[in-house]
Amino acid sequence: MKIEDCIADFQIPQYLHYMDSAATSLIPEPVIASMNEYDRHYRANVGRGMHRLTRVATQRYQDAHDLISDFIGGKEGMTVFTKNTTEAITMVAAGLDWQPGDRIVTTVVEHHSNLLPWLRLRQKDVEVVILQPGQDGIFDIEAFDEAITANTRLVAVSHVSNVLGTVQPVREIAAICKKRGAYFLVDAAQSVPHFPVDAQQIGCDFLCFSGHKMLGPTGTGVLWMRDTMDAVISPLIIGGGTVDDVTTEGYTLTDGYRRFEGGTPNISGAIGLAQAAKYLEDLGMDAICRHVRKLTKRLLTGLTEIDHVKIHGPQNLKNRIGVVSFTIDKIHPHEIAYLLDEKAAILVRSGDHCCIPLIRYLGLENGTVRASLYLYNTLEEIDLLIETIKEIVRMV
Ligand SMILES: Cc1ncc(COP(=O)(O)O)c(C=O)c1O
Repeated sequence: MKIEDCIADFQIPQYLHYMDSAATSLIPEPVIASMNEYDRHYRANVGRGMHRLTRVATQRYQDAHDLISDFIGGKEGMTVFTKNTTEAITMVAAGLDWQPGDRIVTTVVEHHSNLLPWLRLRQKDVEVVILQPGQDGIFDIEAFDEAITANTRLVAVSHVSNVLGTVQPVREIAAICKKRGAYFLVDAAQSVPHFPVDAQQIGCDFLCFSGHKMLGPTGTGVLWMRDTMDAVISPLIIGGGTVDDVTTEGYTLTDGYRRFEGGTPNISGAIGLAQAAKYLEDLGMDAICRHVRKLTKRLLTGLTEIDHVKIHGPQNLKNRIGVVSFTIDKIHPHEIAYLLDEKAAILVRSGDHCCIPLIRYLGLENGTVRASLYLYNTLEEIDLLIETIKEIVRMV
């Protein structure tokens, strides 16, 4: 299927111009159908019992893990299903055995979900160092080289900023972490949906992302960890499904992803997430990337030509994805977002984007307007966005 044809699989773009995919993407019919099929035809619990439905459901749930592992080049490691990126990162922060004096290196660009779990560790006398980027949100690799010291236990960085759209040099950071013996966690919430990501090639220890930003259902996410990491972090939630043996004196936790997936999981969600990855793969991640780049180029060019509009983040396509933040002099971002919806049914996000430290660092009191593009957006929609912004600017 060509990218241009996939729009028929989505309902919302038939009547609205959805440009808020960095928050949550839309979901195509085959993903909805795969979840309905589970609920209608083989709904049963997984990893428990022997009847026919539980055997089918268990197999499909296992297949979903395998498919997602393949999707992110993570076959050698362990793929754990979570609720979202936030839960995946929290599982690492809560699961490591922190010692006073341990050091964590992260950045001011992070989403709150990749910041708060680390800031909380200051209560355990863990040092948290927060790096600042240069112009346009790009980091100088030397900053990491200096900050990642011998006592650095973990480095946590977002692969792509959800505000600026910037892509960070994660492979280079991974190489430094390896040299200094630090664990490396990549928040891939905004990268996995947009371009091919290979956990093994990056060389990270943990890779976290959300299903609902990559055409999958809400309430789905992934914590991938390198092969030996399951012995390093202890599970946040234990109980049903996580044990090999239990006595009244104690228990032995099981191996594999089940150790980290206590209780009945989001089974239909996992099946839908796998279907979403398959949908993306069938279209081709490279083709999706090229399509979004074409739209982003048109948007950046259009915005640059409008007086009183300022783009925050790279002005060109280098090291960025189709997440474009901007402000207009003298108009509050919320007002712009409201007007875009009212005038042209264009849906964008406005405000701090769960990145208050970054918004402060950029000196933006009220945040930005953010248009985030995906495979179902079109050049016509970009033109409409640009024309409507011109109209709003004329109003001031
Ligand atoms: C870079 C980044 N990290 C983490 C998150 C948190 O994702 P979730 O809300 O699915 O946990 C987001 C969500 O926007 C994000 O953009």
